[in-house]
Amino acid sequence: MTREHWGSKLGFVLAAAGSAIGLGNIWKFPYVAGANGGAAFVLVYVLCVIVLGVPIMIAELVIGRHTESDPVGAFKLMFGRSGWVVIGYLGVVCGFLILSFYSVVGGWTIGYIVKSVSGGMSSLTNVETAKNAFAQFIHNPYEMIAYHFLFMAACAFIVIRGVKNGIEWWSKVLMPLLFILLLVLIVKGVSMKGGMAGVSFFLNPDFSKLTVDAVLSALGQSFFSLSLGMGAMITYGSYLSRKERILQSAMYIVLLDTLVAILAGLAIFPAVFAMEMAPDKGPGLVFHVIPAVFANMPYGQVFAVVFFGLLFIAALTSGISLLEVVVAWAGDERGWSRTKAVLILGGAIFAMGVPSALSFNVLEGNTVFFGKTFFDFIDALTSNYMLPIGGFFIAVALGWKYGLDKTIHELDPDTRIISLKELWAFTIKFVSPLLVALVFIVNFLGR
Ligand code: TRP
Repeated sequence: MTREHWGSKLGFVLAAAGSAIGLGNIWKFPYVAGANGGAAFVLVYVLCVIVLGVPIMIAELVIGRHTESDPVGAFKLMFGRSGWVVIGYLGVVCGFLILSFYSVVGGWTIGYIVKSVSGGMSSLTNVETAKNAFAQFIHNPYEMIAYHFLFMAACAFIVIRGVKNGIEWWSKVLMPLLFILLLVLIVKGVSMKGGMAGVSFFLNPDFSKLTVDAVLSALGQSFFSLSLGMGAMITYGSYLSRKERILQSAMYIVLLDTLVAILAGLAIFPAVFAMEMAPDKGPGLVFHVIPAVFANMPYGQVFAVVFFGLLFIAALTSGISLLEVVVAWAGDERGWSRTKAVLILGGAIFAMGVPSALSFNVLEGNTVFFGKTFFDFIDALTSNYMLPIGGFFIAVALGWKYGLDKTIHELDPDTRIISLKELWAFTIKFVSPLLVALVFIVNFLGR
């Protein structure tokens, strides 16, 4: 069987940007930035994106197209049966784990679309009532599991259709829609009374707020937001045809992702400050503030549907990329059909997510996992540890063990700026691994 390929370059870039742009940008980035002091965190984040995100994005795409394989197969092809294959397995497991809790939050977006459409949101006129409504929502174990199931079902529906007719087709429709919706929201947020204070919090750095923890979070967030460190981009790169340029595509993907994170901050923080809410209130941030903003607006219901629709779309195009990694592994390494892989592994991911869905109700306050709930534990384990460690080993595997001489031809052959290639080679060999290691060492010493 010949390997399926993306239908067009635009299709690939939008699918990869769709993987990168997700809850990580619109839901997580604002609350992590808010909890870590705002603009100073944003600056460190952008630095991580430039010096680590770009080179590792290129590295994953190079590995993917070079081997035309899922992450496990890629490392097998490059290194034979050796310990390096563990990195591939770690990636697949990590995709499994991330999607298990990601889908729970994806489910919240569906729940909030339902609430907005049914008019249940118009009474949430201040942050206090919106907060209580959210607490009530996540306290209901049945609703949490049902929405988590719906989200997984939506991912499964698209991934079963395959790369070109499923992932690519849907990304091409959904991503442009997402941009339009986001722009509408920014115009709204910035024009609100008191909104400019939010812009300043988000863009005016106060370095006294920057802690070691914040730097580690910025690192983890940059990997999470760009879908790096676990082979999602290896998998997407494996469907990339030889004629596409990797350097250029990687730049587009990273630019789009960072743009949406910044735009999301610009849409959320003005509203947070206009509602006189503290910006460091954690995962509930957008679910508290956005309904309250809309309830006070003419046509607020419509905007609410738009916003949560946007969040759902962003989550969906990311969720399918996580599922695709696991499904590609089962297909390439185990010979499973796409449908079988999606149904069995999607079902397993759903089951794995149940304790996360229950972390806010039945299992609330049950912090047996290093002082965290199951949900927070899986989130921290994957974003702050597994992804950066995965990224470190991807850089070392390609830069030192496999050798860049065997793969550098994957980079834009007709580029005239030869030095870009060399810059990448230097960064992936020296800068990226050292920097990840440094952040970890400082973090351990700092404890
Ligand atoms: N990047 C997505 C977001 O920002 C989440 C995601 C999708 C992801 N695929 C991934 C994160 C692979 C890490 C690895 O929401």
